[in-house]
Amino acid sequence: MATTFLFLLLSAIFIAKAQRGQSVVNPGSFLTPTTTTTTNSSWPSPSGRYAFGFYKQGSGYAVGVFFAGIPDKTVAWTANRDDPPVSAAVTLNFTSDGRLVLQLAHGTTKRVAVYGETASSASMLDTGNFVVYNADNQTIWESFQNPTDTLLPTQRLLYDDVLDSSVSESNQSTGRFRAIMQQDGFIALYPIGTPYYIEYGYWSKGIQGPPLNATLNLDVDGHLYLANGNGIVTISAGGNSTKGLLYRLRMDDDGFLRLYSYNTNRKGDWVVTWSADSIGKCDPKGLCGVNAFCVIYDEEYNCTCLPGFAFVDESKRTLGCERNLTVDNCKEGTYDMEEEINTVWENDTLSRCFHQT
Ligand SMILES: *[C@@H]1O[C@H](CO)[C@@H](O)[C@H](O)[C@H]1NC(C)=O
Ligand SMILES: *[C@@H]1O[C@H](CO)[C@@H](O)[C@H](O)[C@H]1NC(C)=O
Ligand SMILES: *[C@@H]1O[C@H](CO)[C@@H](O)[C@H](O)[C@H]1NC(C)=O
Ligand SMILES: *[C@@H]1O[C@H](CO)[C@@H](O)[C@H](O)[C@H]1NC(C)=O
Ligand SMILES: *[C@@H]1O[C@H](CO)[C@@H](O)[C@H](O)[C@H]1NC(C)=O
Ligand SMILES: *[C@@H]1O[C@H](CO)[C@@H](O)[C@H](O)[C@H]1NC(C)=O
Ligand SMILES: *[C@@H]1O[C@H](CO)[C@@H](O)[C@H](O)[C@H]1NC(C)=O
Ligand SMILES: *[C@@H]1O[C@H](CO)[C@@H](O)[C@H](O)[C@H]1NC(C)=O
Ligand SMILES: *[C@@H]1O[C@H](CO)[C@@H](O)[C@H](O)[C@H]1NC(C)=O
Repeated sequence: MATTFLFLLLSAIFIAKAQRGQSVVNPGSFLTPTTTTTTNSSWPSPSGRYAFGFYKQGSGYAVGVFFAGIPDKTVAWTANRDDPPVSAAVTLNFTSDGRLVLQLAHGTTKRVAVYGETASSASMLDTGNFVVYNADNQTIWESFQNPTDTLLPTQRLLYDDVLDSSVSESNQSTGRFRAIMQQDGFIALYPIGTPYYIEYGYWSKGIQGPPLNATLNLDVDGHLYLANGNGIVTISAGGNSTKGLLYRLRMDDDGFLRLYSYNTNRKGDWVVTWSADSIGKCDPKGLCGVNAFCVIYDEEYNCTCLPGFAFVDESKRTLGCERNLTVDNCKEGTYDMEEEINTVWENDTLSRCFHQT
C-alpha cells in the first residue's frame, strides 16, 4: 500500500517535472529590466538555477546568464559585454521575426545574440546554456559557444577559444587577462593584446598530442581536464558526489584562472576549489600597468609607482602610473637617479622622463 502510494507520488512529481520540461521562449516574448505585475526581468531555467535576462550593472542593467537560485546573482555570461549598461527604459524582445534584440529609446534596436537564420524558439537550459533554435529545432546559437570569462560544467573550450577576464567583480566589460585553449594542446594564460609567445605567457598546462584539437572540459562534479581523443590530463580532480555543489571556472580580473564551488545546502560564498598553480600573485604580467611594479604585501598584491611617477587613478591602482614631473624637472642636473632592487625589466616602450626632453 505504502509502496504504491510512493510510486504514485513519484510519478506525479516526475510528470509535473516533465510537463514543466524545457522552459521554451517563443517569438513575441519580451523582458524588462525590472519585474512588474505584467512583465518579468528574466527567463529562468526549469529548476530555477540559472536565468537569462537583465541583471544590475553599474547604474543600469546588462543582459546575460546568471546563477538565479542563490542570493548573490553570480554572472556566467554577458551579451555585448563592452557596451555601456542600459537604462531601465528598455525592453529585451524576442521579435516575431525571430531576432533577440534590445529595444532602446527612439526605436533603435541592438542584437543580443547574432545568428543568420530565423529563430523559432529559445530556451534557458538547466546547464546554464542559453540556446536559440530554428524551425527544425536545430541549435543556431548558444551562449556556451560564445563564452565571456566563465566556463560552466559540460561547457567546453575548443581550440582557439578564449576566456577573457572582466574589468572587476562588478564590471563585466573585457578586462586584461586571457585564457586560451591553444592548438598545441596547452591551456595558457596571457595578458590580453600580447602575442601568444612563451615569454608573454605566465602559466600553462598541456596534453601531449597527436591527435591535436585538445579541449578544456569541466564536468558537473568539478573534474577539470584537458582531453584530445588520446587521453586526458586532469587539472583538478573533482569527483565529489555531494549533491547541491555548483561549479564554475573563471578567468579572474587579477590574472588567475580559478575553479569555484558553491554549496547550495549551506548557502554562504563561492569557495576556490582550484587555482592556476605554481604562480605568485604578482606573476600575471602587466598586472600593475605601465611605469609600475607589483609587490606582495600581507599575501595580497599591491601596485607601486616608479619614483617620479604617480597613479593615473589612485582608486584604480592597476591602471598604471604616469610621470609626476614637469618638463622643467627633466633638465640636466635637476633629477636624481634611484636604484630599484628586486625588479625585472621588460624591454618595452614606457613613457620615461628622458623621452620628453
Ligand atoms: C513571469 O514568469 C512567471 C514564472 O516564470 C510566469 O508564470 C509568468 O507567466 C511570467 N509573466 C509574463 C508576463 O511573462
Ligand atoms: C567598466 O569598465 C570599462 C573599462 O574600464 C569602462 O569603460 C566602463 O565605464 C565601466 N562600466 C561601468 C558600469 O562601470
Ligand atoms: C518589444 O516589445 C514591446 C512590448 O511588447 C513592444 O512595445 C515593442 O514594439 C517591441 N519591439 C520590437 C522591436 O519588437
Ligand atoms: C521542438 O522541440 C519541442 C520541445 O522539445 C517540441 O515540442 C516540438 O514539437 C519540436 N518541434 C519540431 C519541429 O521538431
Ligand atoms: C581540428 O578541428 C578542425 C575543425 O573541426 C579540423 O578542420 C582540423 O582538421 C582538426 N585538426 C586536427 C589535427 O585534428
Ligand atoms: C571534495 O570534498 C573535499 C572535502 O570536503 C574538499 O576538501 C575538496 O576540495 C572537494 N573537491 C572538490 C573538487 O570540490
Ligand atoms: C597598497 O598600499 C597602499 C599604501 O601604500 C594602500 O593604501 C592600498 O590600500 C594598498 N592596496 C591594496 C590593494 O592592498
Ligand atoms: C607629484 O608631484 C607633486 C609636485 O611635485 C607632489 O606634491 C606630489 O606629492 C607628487 N605625487 C606623488 C604621488 O608622487
Ligand atoms: C630592445 O628592443 C629594441 C626594439 O625592439 C631592440 O632594438 C633592442 O635590441 C632590444 N634590446 C635588448 C637588450 O633586448
